[in-house]
Amino acid sequence: MRSPACRPPRQVGRKRPHTNTREPIIQEPEASEPEATRRTAGVTESSRANRGWWDRNADEYQIEHGTFLGDDRFVWSPEGLDEVEAELLGPPEELKGKDVLEIGAGAAQCARWLTAQGARPVALDLSHRQLQHALRIGAPFPLVCADAGALPFADRSFDLACSAYGALPFVADPVLVLKEVRRVLRPGGRFVFSVTHPIRWAFPDEPGPEGLAVSASYFDRTPYVEQDDDGSAVYVEHHRTIGDRVRDVVAGGFRLVDLVEPEWPSWNTAEWGGWSPLRGNLIPGTAIFVCERD
Ligand SMILES: C[S@@+](CC[C@H](N)C(=O)[O-])C[C@H]1O[C@@H](n2cnc3c(N)ncnc32)[C@H](O)[C@@H]1O
Repeated sequence: MRSPACRPPRQVGRKRPHTNTREPIIQEPEASEPEATRRTAGVTESSRANRGWWDRNADEYQIEHGTFLGDDRFVWSPEGLDEVEAELLGPPEELKGKDVLEIGAGAAQCARWLTAQGARPVALDLSHRQLQHALRIGAPFPLVCADAGALPFADRSFDLACSAYGALPFVADPVLVLKEVRRVLRPGGRFVFSVTHPIRWAFPDEPGPEGLAVSASYFDRTPYVEQDDDGSAVYVEHHRTIGDRVRDVVAGGFRLVDLVEPEWPSWNTAEWGGWSPLRGNLIPGTAIFVCERD
């Protein structure tokens, strides 16, 4: 879930410090910081950049957010919406025996919760380092390192698919991913995915009051890109409006059953990047799409 993961839109032109926790002890000459900008980025460039970014930053992500995520909770978003209360995949007692694909699983906390319900999850992620964290915590289910745009599974392999801020915010061609998910789902199968709420792209990615004033066009779909000195992308997020996402879902062969915008609960005093109680009480931070394969 995403700053990192989903921290758009930072101020473009601003450089972000390196966050690699596995830097060598012997200091090399400092590599310059990536530059944040808005520019086009295609499928291959986005995938390559994000694979590298998540491999380099998985350790920090899990250190920073692991406690909030828990080892075996299914949390949909920084608001803390839990699948136990939301039941977006259906009643927990009906998950028993279901084949479930978790996409952009990170350390696979959701898959672990699904296992506890008697489901048979498979956790997929683009980043091998994220999946190493899944192994560290414990993964009594298959882990698959692959891109959501090319799922290495046979048609109709799963009853359900889910993704908590995994893949969809990062891909240049979301319809390709939705078609892939549809292909591997059995008829009637459900796909539920959460993303940064599109309205967030109109505001600075700041948790405080400075994050409350519109600073960019909601309608500007130009991707957020961090690039190195050579102009090569090292991190990419893609913006779709709410209408775009609905059309993507339909174009991917799904029926939209619900669109959930979790409200900020009073118990949650934690900040997550640009998500905060202050902003969460005023504007939505997350959109969760509940889709069914026709
Ligand atoms: C914000 S993290 C979310 C991880 C986990 N679902 C959670 O809630 O902590 C986004 C994850 O999506 C993965 N990801 C990004 N692009 C992807 C792609 N094209 N295919 C599969 N996974 C991808 C990243 O490697 C990362 O682990």
